[in-house]
Amino acid sequence: MSSQSTLSKKSAVAEPDIKRKRMTVPNFMARKGGEPLVCLTAYTAHVANLLDKRCDLLLVGDSLGMVIHGMPNTLGVTLEHMIMHGQGVMRGAEKSLVVVDMPFGSFEESPEIAFRNAARVVKETGCAAIKLEGGAEMAPTIRHLTRRGIPVMAHIGLMPQNMNVMGGFKVAGRDERDWQNIIQDAREVEKAGAFSVVVEGVTEPLAEKITESIAIPTIGIGASVKCDGQILVFEDMVGLFPRVPTFVKRYGNMQEMIEGAADTYAEEVKARRFPGDDHVYTLDKKDG
Ligand code: KIV
Repeated sequence: MSSQSTLSKKSAVAEPDIKRKRMTVPNFMARKGGEPLVCLTAYTAHVANLLDKRCDLLLVGDSLGMVIHGMPNTLGVTLEHMIMHGQGVMRGAEKSLVVVDMPFGSFEESPEIAFRNAARVVKETGCAAIKLEGGAEMAPTIRHLTRRGIPVMAHIGLMPQNMNVMGGFKVAGRDERDWQNIIQDAREVEKAGAFSVVVEGVTEPLAEKITESIAIPTIGIGASVKCDGQILVFEDMVGLFPRVPTFVKRYGNMQEMIEGAADTYAEEVKARRFPGDDHVYTLDKKDG
């Protein structure tokens, strides 16, 4: 294991952050209008460990259904998927605020069911907050959770869990007549107690307007540089997922790197050049 890897040896399950070195919800909120908040998705312990010192927030997003499990959309993701990946990320991250997404079908039915499932996520992963998709229609649920000890990050604009109703992934706010509804969504989730809101796939001027209209941090994805912070799906950002929508900037090309490494490995195996002298155990016991 590399010397940079410092995964927590402790269990990630429901341990309070006694040393308080981790980003808290109030400290995250205090960054409204200040230095932009750096957020990325993470789904595994080692990736979380690498991103941790570079991020304010790590989201265990339900996009993991597509980018990790090869699903066509996020609708098939279960609570068990989210809990298992949330546990991994909590083991890898010490400093970032970790937020776990509520998957489709786990929170919409009633505030009580949402609380039961969200409490399970918090207990079994140790994360500090959950995220759920929805605007004004989810305000009663957001209020119910926040008043009972579960901080909520809301998610408005393009909501991937709504894809069947919308007929696909549609950018919101191209028609200015729709702006008022989306701004109202932002105001309602704020009023209900959300500590922050993801603003996804909305036109730039609308994202700016939303950011000016509320006092909680807006986290943009396909939104605007004027949002209070930005989030990207890690696999998109490092070129590990084939799709490249307009809002994704590739900061690396891991696909090329992985394919190159696998090509070289296959070549060396076939030519009997691997394992060479450095990678076999000898009788003198000097190896690790
Ligand atoms: O699931 C996810 O990764 C998300 C982000 C795109 C915000 O919700």
